[in-house]
Amino acid sequence: MKVDITTLSDLSKEQIDELFANAREGKKKHKQGVYEPVLQGKTAGLVFDKPSTRTRVSFEAAMIQLGGVPMYIQSGDTQIKRQEPVEDTARVLSRYLDALVVRTFSQEFVEDLAREASIPIINALTDMYHPCQVLSDLLTVIELKGGYEGVKIVWIGDGNNVAHSWISAAAILGLDLVLACPDDHQPEQTVLDKVKNSSAGSVKVVSDPREAAVGADVLYTDVWASMGQEEESDERMKSFEGYVVDQTLVNLAAKDVSVMHCLPAHRGEEITAGVLEGPNSVVWDQAENKLHMHKAILDALIRLWK
Ligand code: CP
Ligand code: NVA
Repeated sequence: MKVDITTLSDLSKEQIDELFANAREGKKKHKQGVYEPVLQGKTAGLVFDKPSTRTRVSFEAAMIQLGGVPMYIQSGDTQIKRQEPVEDTARVLSRYLDALVVRTFSQEFVEDLAREASIPIINALTDMYHPCQVLSDLLTVIELKGGYEGVKIVWIGDGNNVAHSWISAAAILGLDLVLACPDDHQPEQTVLDKVKNSSAGSVKVVSDPREAAVGADVLYTDVWASMGQEEESDERMKSFEGYVVDQTLVNLAAKDVSVMHCLPAHRGEEITAGVLEGPNSVVWDQAENKLHMHKAILDALIRLWK
């Protein structure tokens, strides 16, 4: 049966651990200049309704390095924009492609596609989740901390898509996750409820970033106004005042804390330039690992788990 990644909850702990192992192996080979064309003859479509630098380029490069072909599909040039039913789009694209990577607003659209398509559907970010981001970030955590067990991961800022995927990961993998979010930008209760119903993981939501940061092994932040929220920018700047990841916050964390950001970053807003460029920042390694994780994801969904 095909496997989709509409949210991390589509995967088991075993599957996620397999992705980490394969991504690490693939990264090692990449560094040696070894490329195996395991996806020769395969095509992955990429539909992006929001801008992207890292996710799109790394998925395209991943497909090419695996011997397959990425096909960027401008959704505005397709019948999706003229309201062709999602089930019809899913059925037709399933006859041409071997996987479909989708970045859009609505999580429901991605889940509807997954339900109707016979090919794997990969969520490359919705308003609700960013599962592939957190998979590649966890690869970075594993490399830096030797694993994810017992690592205190602290999220500072908006409790939306990336934070939601961290909460899902906590439930599946048993992470120690603390989120500091302003009262009006807390994670959605439906997402938190899923952790409550899982035996693994400890997820705590607080309002004070200083309280959260104490002893953090990972300090993670994201933009205050996500794609599609540009008009709320001024209002959001006020809500998130005091949630900036600065040196004071870093000083409260563990000495070897890794500062993470999914990027793009706004220096002087959610993170200071000094911290982003400072010795604890691992943001460029994080960005690099998107390529290696996306290769592992494409290979697993198109070939290994079919
Ligand atoms: N982190 C991330 O998803 O970056 P892009 O928006 O550039 O893809
Ligand atoms: N929360 C951000 C993540 C960007 C990768 C957004 O949705 O714009």
